[in-house]
Amino acid sequence: MTDSGAPHSRITGTGACLPARVVTNHDLAQIMDTSDEWIRERTGIKRRHLVEGETAGDLGLVAAKNAIEMAGIAPDAIDLIVVATTTPDKVFPGTACIIQRRLGIGGCAAFDVQAACSGFVYGLDIADRQIRTGGARVALIIGAETLSKIVNWEDRGTAVLFGDGAGAVVLEASEQEGVISTHIHADGRYADLLEVPQGISSGYDAVRAERAFITMQGNAVFKRAVATLDSMARETLDANGIDRHDIDWLVPHQANLRIIAAAARKLDLPMERVIVTVDEHANTSGASIPLALDAAVRDGRIGAGDLLLFEAFGAGFTWGSALVRF
Ligand code: ACO
Repeated sequence: MTDSGAPHSRITGTGACLPARVVTNHDLAQIMDTSDEWIRERTGIKRRHLVEGETAGDLGLVAAKNAIEMAGIAPDAIDLIVVATTTPDKVFPGTACIIQRRLGIGGCAAFDVQAACSGFVYGLDIADRQIRTGGARVALIIGAETLSKIVNWEDRGTAVLFGDGAGAVVLEASEQEGVISTHIHADGRYADLLEVPQGISSGYDAVRAERAFITMQGNAVFKRAVATLDSMARETLDANGIDRHDIDWLVPHQANLRIIAAAARKLDLPMERVIVTVDEHANTSGASIPLALDAAVRDGRIGAGDLLLFEAFGAGFTWGSALVRF
């Protein structure tokens, strides 16, 4: 038993927000040298949602409100807000503080996590540990991204891969089992393979504005992602002494259908037990796992008592997993 009076943290609400504008592969083929067939075959992506002026905070706020409504809590019950984003509204304050103000709640801890595509799992790890050690009782974890703002629309190798959106969960102290374990890692030796090379302290260079966009060595990222998923799955299963066949649903980061299928094969899971939204959302980085989770919870596939495995891999490289009893 911890100071919070409960030994576990449990997801009690999920929420999502996708911008209204849908851009299909066919639409992209009108503005760059690509095709629906190439994009679908290599990535599984058919369309993506892109903002028309909304910020990550705007999307995150709506996702958060939806999660709060499902959890049935008053916003002022929240005592920790973590936002995973690589595309914050402002250099500072953090997007978590911006959302906190718009929820009308002050006083609780609120901060952003920058761990690229693994940000949501990092946030879940932090919030779970806060709850289990009595630092918080009700946490809001949001993944919110406007990747279209850091995509080079003249680079077909990356522009077709990304989308905008936000997902959120409410995590509450509970007597009931919920988050069973989380495992987060990084290896900065791979930092150059996937990056936005420009930053605040390295200086904004208007002459070389292309440095403000995502650059990626796609093949190298692909190979490393697939190899890491193998060790990630083994680490999570071994830590909990469970068999891979005990997993009910894999909820992976949605970067590429081929990477997701490889992860499912390692777990001997049929694709019917894998939540796939990459076809509809493309890669929304830190938002992709909570977006996929919310879709499957709301359409009834994921239900109470199901054993879920979240797996994420992204720039850094960062990676992480979470085993969750829903
Ligand atoms: N449309 C048409 N042709 C294209 C496009 C496009 N959008 N993009 C690249 N091509 C061409 C290339 O120019 C190349 O042509 P060439 O043979 O004449 O030189 C050819 O297609 C093959 O290009 P590759 O980059 O070798 O294609 P690959 O099979 O590696 O697929 C992809 C590229 C989809 C990016 C793949 O490497 C991948 O999925 N990597 C994983 C990385 C990832 O998902 N990153 C997202 C962020 S990180 C994360 O979230 C894990």
